[in-house]
Amino acid sequence: MIKFGVMGAGNIATKFSKALLGIGGNLYAIASRDLNKSEAFKKTYGFEKAYGSYEDMLKDSSVECVYIATPHGLHFEHMMLALKYHKHILCEKAFTLNEEQAKIVFDEANNKNLFVMEALWTRYLPTIIEVKQLISNGVIGDITKIEANFCFKATRDDESRLFAPHLGGGALLDVGIYPLTFANLFLGTPHRIESNVDLYHTGVDLSNEITLYYDQAIAHLKSSLGYNLPIEGFIYGTKGYIQIPMFIGAERASIYDNHHHLIKEIENKHIVNGMEYEILEVINCLENDRKESSLMTHLETLNILHQMDEIRKQWR
Ligand SMILES: NC(=O)c1ccc[n+]([C@@H]2O[C@H](COP(=O)([O-])OP(=O)(O)OC[C@H]3O[C@@H](n4cnc5c(N)ncnc54)[C@H](OP(=O)(O)O)[C@@H]3O)[C@@H](O)[C@H]2O)c1
Repeated sequence: MIKFGVMGAGNIATKFSKALLGIGGNLYAIASRDLNKSEAFKKTYGFEKAYGSYEDMLKDSSVECVYIATPHGLHFEHMMLALKYHKHILCEKAFTLNEEQAKIVFDEANNKNLFVMEALWTRYLPTIIEVKQLISNGVIGDITKIEANFCFKATRDDESRLFAPHLGGGALLDVGIYPLTFANLFLGTPHRIESNVDLYHTGVDLSNEITLYYDQAIAHLKSSLGYNLPIEGFIYGTKGYIQIPMFIGAERASIYDNHHHLIKEIENKHIVNGMEYEILEVINCLENDRKESSLMTHLETLNILHQMDEIRKQWR
């Protein structure tokens, strides 16, 4: 069983550890900048080893794959460090701050023949994969429009990873990546992007609205750290539409015809908390000696980062 090492003992590392535990995975090592914190984590989840520095954990040759759960402003530095020690990587979203950093990481991983995958959990969910298949089978005809929102009112803390520029703050990198991924998953790469932004005083984006243009379709996306909206995704087609509540961690979807009649409902309850699917994908890839996942290719990570670079360029 692949031996995981977790880097950063924060909020998402907790969810990841629960998922790994829930599927009987190998919780090998946890690293925090604070040894007391990693010791507590080790005790709670049953890790074998606890380290008080990230590099100390990377020096442990038993660690096979590192899960990077630090703020996105630090992902590039932490991935390059993990690659230096010849570790496979599962890195939280946003993978890096921009496309250029991601290219460097992928080049280095390819040079060293190591596996790297972005932990954008939505990509690996059975409901999302099933919806994709149903759309390919023509359940709603040709897609004409997508709407997706991920907006929540975050506690304002200028030093936190959500609002501090040096930690990669802002709605786009933290939550906007989900609606953007949702549109790309079903429509591919847009040929034109328009966007509006509401900037926060630290310089990061508090809220944004994005329109993606395709030859035969359009996508309207919203993300915010400043106000609440239902987290929902809609895919409209020539023959009907699909509603996916809580699309980021989707467990179910409802399919309607053009008369708003429900024609099909699908449901795939999480085994643990939804993060288990990305972990299972890592294990599957590594056990089959694959250096890249087909569910989240390097090109797809680069595509999304490229679009986010373009959007931020529009905001100057
Ligand atoms: N997939 C998802 O659903 C999901 C959900 C939430 C977040 N995320 C992603 O996961 C990453 C971490 O988010 P989170 O919510 O877990 O954040 P968090 O609770 O703040 O944890 C981040 C951890 O990073 C470490 N860290 C290292 N240098 C740091 C620094 N200079 N400032 C702050 N923390 C530092 C800290 O761990 P130590 O003190 O232990 O070293 C901290 O606990 C982000 O990239 C975020 O986008 C993903």
